[in-house]
Amino acid sequence: MDKLLIRGGQRLNGEVPISGAKNAALPELCAALLSAEPLTLTNVPRLQDVSTTLKLLRNMGVAAEPGATEDALVLDASRVTLTEAPYELVKTMRASILVLGPLLARFGRARVSLPGGCAIGSRPVDQHIKGLQAMGAEIRVEHGYIVAEASRLQGARITTDMVTVTGTENLLMAACLAEGETVLENAAQEPEVSDLAEMLIAMGARIEGHGTRRITVQGVESLHGASHHIVPDRIEAGTFLCAVAATGGDVVLRRANAAHLTTVIEKLREAGIDIESGDDWIRVRGSGRPKAVSFRTSEYPSFPTDMQAQFMALNCIAEGSSRVTETIFENRFMHVNELTRLGAQIEVDGHTAIVHGVERLSGATVMATDLRASASLVIGGLVADGETLVDRIYHLDRGYDRMESKLRAIGAQIERVGRAP
Ligand code: UD1
Repeated sequence: MDKLLIRGGQRLNGEVPISGAKNAALPELCAALLSAEPLTLTNVPRLQDVSTTLKLLRNMGVAAEPGATEDALVLDASRVTLTEAPYELVKTMRASILVLGPLLARFGRARVSLPGGCAIGSRPVDQHIKGLQAMGAEIRVEHGYIVAEASRLQGARITTDMVTVTGTENLLMAACLAEGETVLENAAQEPEVSDLAEMLIAMGARIEGHGTRRITVQGVESLHGASHHIVPDRIEAGTFLCAVAATGGDVVLRRANAAHLTTVIEKLREAGIDIESGDDWIRVRGSGRPKAVSFRTSEYPSFPTDMQAQFMALNCIAEGSSRVTETIFENRFMHVNELTRLGAQIEVDGHTAIVHGVERLSGATVMATDLRASASLVIGGLVADGETLVDRIYHLDRGYDRMESKLRAIGAQIERVGRAP
């Protein structure tokens, strides 16, 4: 099993290209199921979750071929033979649930394995099911599978009990081909939802209000092919911002969108980090110890839960104490124990972690427990004295596009090793 070996203490300098957003790519790949014409995606990030989604789609009969450029993919769902997402694929990636809405809307049936428990909380999909039922689908759960049927989905007014990102995306995709008007209340406003909506509009969908709490969709008979460039990954960009803030240095992120990171950038400035940005770049400069900054995760545009662990790593070496409150997921502090192994001082009190900044962390062997937790351990390793070995980095590979080569290019001493040396 691959591990990352990091020799800490290097300042980071240079430029990093930011990849397309994982959380936009996954629903957009699944949206190929909505049309019998080809969909071309560019700026597709190279990561395990994208490979898993392609495996899932190919298993259904979707053709997925490389496009004209290195980061392009052409998907063709004109010959779908199976409307099923098997357990073996869904268990490794919860976002597989995103095929449910498109399959049901275009083919009138879907059989999708229920996602199992997940390291960061139970994460049910009841809102996806409730919304599709409101659109007239017959849904039952049998043998661990969601079995859904509908002759044609009907537009409906749906208010989800909480803001759910993939829930909004599933219902949005389904509504595109439903008969009549669908109104999604309490919709997620994440930039990835808006990016998906823009792509669906390019495919002929009639959508208004994306990026706000209420999305309105007028259903159409069919969608056509389109080309779409995936929005930059704000979480990857935010992770690099935290890494440079922690190690010190001067780095420019290319093809990054600062407007999607407003809250994170505000918090970094509060920590004393110098940040400038233009249309498609962000420059981050850090020197000396950052100041501790408290924050609370919440839905977009507030502080993203997907940046909580990485910013906590920064707080670990900051001057002063901070309170980090997680409000989205019930069990998203698993990185705390591992950061503690690096010498961090953190106490957890329910949904809040109290971080007492220390001057130095010290290298150790640590274990990645989920995707963003892994990134926090990499940041910890980059600032720690001596060597840090991050085990189980398959979590990191799920969602970061060649992270260690990008870090190496800006001066980090980091390498992938097959086994503990
Ligand atoms: C998406 C992101 C993930 C991010 C999360 C929150 C993708 C592929 N993943 O995950 O990176 O951390 O948003 O920003 O885009 N909930 C229910 N019932 C449901 C749906 C959700 O109870 O049917 C709860 C969840 O357990 C969680 C909260 O709602 O507590 C938000 O989850 P949700 O926004 O759905 O997360 P995902 O879409 O899975």
